[in-house]
Amino acid sequence: MSCVLREAYLFGGVMLELGVCYYPEQWPEHMWEADAQRMVDLGLTWVRVGEFAWSIVEKQEGKFDWGLLDRAVEILGRAGLKVVMCTPSAAPPKWLIDKHPEILPVDAEGRVRKFGARRHYCFSSDIYREHAVRIAAEYAKRYGKNPHVQAWQIDNEYGDHDTIHSYSEAAKTAFRRWLKARYKTIDALNAAWGTVFWSMSYNRFKQIELPNNLVEEPSPTHLLDYQRFASDEVIKFNKAQVETVRKFVSGRPITHNFMGHNTDFDHFELGKDLDFASWDSYPMGALIHGKMDSAEKARLLRTGLPDQPAFNNDLYRQAGQGRAWIMEQQPGPVNWAAHNQSPHDGMVRLWTWLAFAHGIDVVCYFRWRQSKFAQEQFHSGLLLPNDREDQAFHEVAQVAQELKKLPAGVGDRTPAKVALVLDYASRWAALSLPQGADYSSSRNIMNWYAALSARSVDVDIVGPHNDLSGYDLVVVPDMIIEDAALVEKLQASDAKIYLGARTGSKTRDMHIPDKLPPGEFGRLINVQVRRVESLPEYNNDEIQLDGASYPLGNWRECINTNEVVLAHIKSSHRDQSPALVGNEKCWYGAVNFNGEALNAVVEKLLEWSMVPYREASSDLRVTQRGNLNFAFNFGEENITFNLAEHAEILVGATDIAPRDVLIWR
Ligand code: GAL
Repeated sequence: MSCVLREAYLFGGVMLELGVCYYPEQWPEHMWEADAQRMVDLGLTWVRVGEFAWSIVEKQEGKFDWGLLDRAVEILGRAGLKVVMCTPSAAPPKWLIDKHPEILPVDAEGRVRKFGARRHYCFSSDIYREHAVRIAAEYAKRYGKNPHVQAWQIDNEYGDHDTIHSYSEAAKTAFRRWLKARYKTIDALNAAWGTVFWSMSYNRFKQIELPNNLVEEPSPTHLLDYQRFASDEVIKFNKAQVETVRKFVSGRPITHNFMGHNTDFDHFELGKDLDFASWDSYPMGALIHGKMDSAEKARLLRTGLPDQPAFNNDLYRQAGQGRAWIMEQQPGPVNWAAHNQSPHDGMVRLWTWLAFAHGIDVVCYFRWRQSKFAQEQFHSGLLLPNDREDQAFHEVAQVAQELKKLPAGVGDRTPAKVALVLDYASRWAALSLPQGADYSSSRNIMNWYAALSARSVDVDIVGPHNDLSGYDLVVVPDMIIEDAALVEKLQASDAKIYLGARTGSKTRDMHIPDKLPPGEFGRLINVQVRRVESLPEYNNDEIQLDGASYPLGNWRECINTNEVVLAHIKSSHRDQSPALVGNEKCWYGAVNFNGEALNAVVEKLLEWSMVPYREASSDLRVTQRGNLNFAFNFGEENITFNLAEHAEILVGATDIAPRDVLIWR
């Protein structure tokens, strides 16, 4: 997006706002007017509509009936709400599937996924992309200049229900095309994939298959390329709609609503085509599906992980190049997780403030009213199915009142002193060649983020392409794929650097670098990884750091180094091998630090890089946006917070009750 548009149209001084997702097609028309008025009275300014309305708008190919959407937009707009209009491509209608069944995606077992829910399309289907662009154009022509429609969303949650990877004929053809463009010659592909290994060589691109349903695992480069390709397909699909919609919408900003924790496509790359990013925040489901131990889950059952929504707010703010919304905020229990507990009363308000604190500009709740029918009957809303207020309604009302206590036009998120590098290709590399059953890059970065946040250290999540100036500490938890350009940037920056185990352990083609890991990153620190071990949970190895011992975790490397050894490994195997080494610019971890060992390393790193931090707390989170400061209590006990005398309290009190928030400047 152009900077002019970003500054002039979008956000000339940020106003924090609230909104809601609304489905006029699911409620009798006589309710709409009252709904709209009630939204306004509640303090909402945005309403999102239309993402599942294709079959209403176009009942048969080319036969459009805009009546329902026209009337809904008019009623909502007249009441004073700004509408986010969504293109409806997440749910292609039955007539289209009947006409072109080849649009349907195919799962890894080769089964066609059928019509009857949503997201039943393959990103590689040219036919579908054309139809998606066609309907997006119709929507944009219809509402592009409508004064009530002030923002646009493309599709809905790319990747929901594992829908990035399809193994259809269309995907196969497109994959071959993509490989041809990448490698130019089949010999280059054979060399990159190492096809000589098990007699897998190809003579022509046309012979290449998708990497599913094989007897044993495919070449990791084959798999990594497939994941890169699948990501590019999503980006291409999104871009086609963005470019079309942009032609008709007179500068109205365009977004897509990302999911928390989906890493099947590159959000940074896709975000470059958007005017702002948005994401859908469901902390309760994230806890249930998270990988912490059960005791921790039990402790946080109804508050969720404090750092899960915060991490995603920070990630998507970066993907939106500084601008992000929550497009769907959980308002109570949901319906889709393995178990669906109720958040504690107060959490919806807390999550809203947490989002604002982390640089989110608008929080929209999913959904206005709980549905009486169909798939999501158990999903709460701001209203009960009988139209009475549910808990979240009151919490939103409170936030709306509290927002008035803030200065008009708040600042942007304060740039952090610490950056965490997230590289999507490296994540796919870890999936392509995990080497240990429980190895998870997503978990690693989350552990780092949480350990820093628990010490009230703000963190920016950055991609390798981002500018790194201004940081005091850059942490690269496990960037598997070498990146010479990033190494140069790190060398040129004033920041201290931490490189985690596995960093630089593969080339772009997923080979072991000639100089051995950490490959190009070896320009920052003299380390050569000679052997790696993935270890089961019950291993007895220990990390010895500053006089204390910690369990070692799931990954250990044996390195050659002439750097200063900062921590050792105690083990029956190669006792006293280095666990952490460093020079005055860069440290390297030869283990995957987590738990208490990670906490100790984080504090050591913060001291080394002179980043101020508070004593760790499991319950308290403190953060800043512009000149506003925020403290959140995720725990069960009151927390007394000491403020400087000149601090002006805007919301809350220094005695912070459980699930309460204190805001001051
Ligand atoms: C999201 C989706 C919404 C709704 C919601 C329920 O993943 O975008 O349409 O299904 O989940 O929590």
